[in-house]
Amino acid sequence: MRKTFISTMAVAGASALVLAGCSSSDEGKVADDTTAGASGGDGTSEVITVGFAQTGAESGWRSANTESMQNAFSEDNGFDLVFNAADNDPAAQISAVRNFINQGVDAIVIAPVVEDGWDDVLQEAKDAGIPVVLEDRTVSASDDLYESWVGLDFHAEGVKAGEWAAEEFGDTPTNMVVLEGTTGSAPANERAAGFDEAIAGTAIETIDSQTGDFTRDGGKSVMEGYIANYGLDGIDLVYAHNDDMGLGAIEAIEAAGGTPGEDIKIVTIDAVKDGMQALVDGKINYIVECNPMLGELAAQIVKDVLAGTEVEKTYYVEDQTFTQEQAAEVIDERPY
Ligand code: AHR
Repeated sequence: MRKTFISTMAVAGASALVLAGCSSSDEGKVADDTTAGASGGDGTSEVITVGFAQTGAESGWRSANTESMQNAFSEDNGFDLVFNAADNDPAAQISAVRNFINQGVDAIVIAPVVEDGWDDVLQEAKDAGIPVVLEDRTVSASDDLYESWVGLDFHAEGVKAGEWAAEEFGDTPTNMVVLEGTTGSAPANERAAGFDEAIAGTAIETIDSQTGDFTRDGGKSVMEGYIANYGLDGIDLVYAHNDDMGLGAIEAIEAAGGTPGEDIKIVTIDAVKDGMQALVDGKINYIVECNPMLGELAAQIVKDVLAGTEVEKTYYVEDQTFTQEQAAEVIDERPY
């Protein structure tokens, strides 16, 4: 599948980015757009009313993503943002989207809690003539039902985390436990698949895998259960689908008298401030980034769609990886 990549530099950059509608030969290009501004980008001065259905407030990553979206969909940028956070409840999120349709908003942006179950409400939005843009997570519904998606390559994140584990443990028999993200969510599904591909053929064995729902408390309580079942000595590696669950695992390991990062190695995904600090402190051993700063890009896509400008169906933001030394170098400069 053709992928359009946007660099993290561009994501962290100032306002008024236009996403180059590019083919595989010109991937990564982002141009300044001096025509799109607070007017809504279509030459009118009308405020654009956008309903944003956020997953909830489950993690540090989510807080950074919400802030990025609220900053980008601001009054100064020509938007009236109607914000809803669904507390990780798929039914509540679908109901929020139905409310946006009934309110007659100009556009809807969704960070879908789970992949499945979107067909009907997306069709309803389409029938009402309200364009939908997805950010962060993907859906299993037909891509005819939404205009565009901007986010991260969750499968590649899982592969990168797995490659680190394969390099670290290789042929050494290794008992791994997994802290999964929200069941049915795109990042949980794809990070699991990518990791498993990368460790195939190694001596790493998944001895248990349960959801911690992307929360610190969830990660902690699942890890407490793993320690009760297998003992600190029976676990060599934790793969947490996000930093917050890894941070919860650290609390559980320390409470049981263990030393996270030494007795039990930990690899996580996100690279939010608290996670990066734990990496610098040696309590996490490796982090794959998942960039939450998607607001500017999502806002520009909405303006382009409403202005009738052609947009790509998918925009991927590139992620980095961090060792302890790399984290120490950049931690003070990172915006989240
Ligand atoms: O969808 C992105 C994931 O959702 C982040 O990795 C996680 O922290 C968040 O809750």
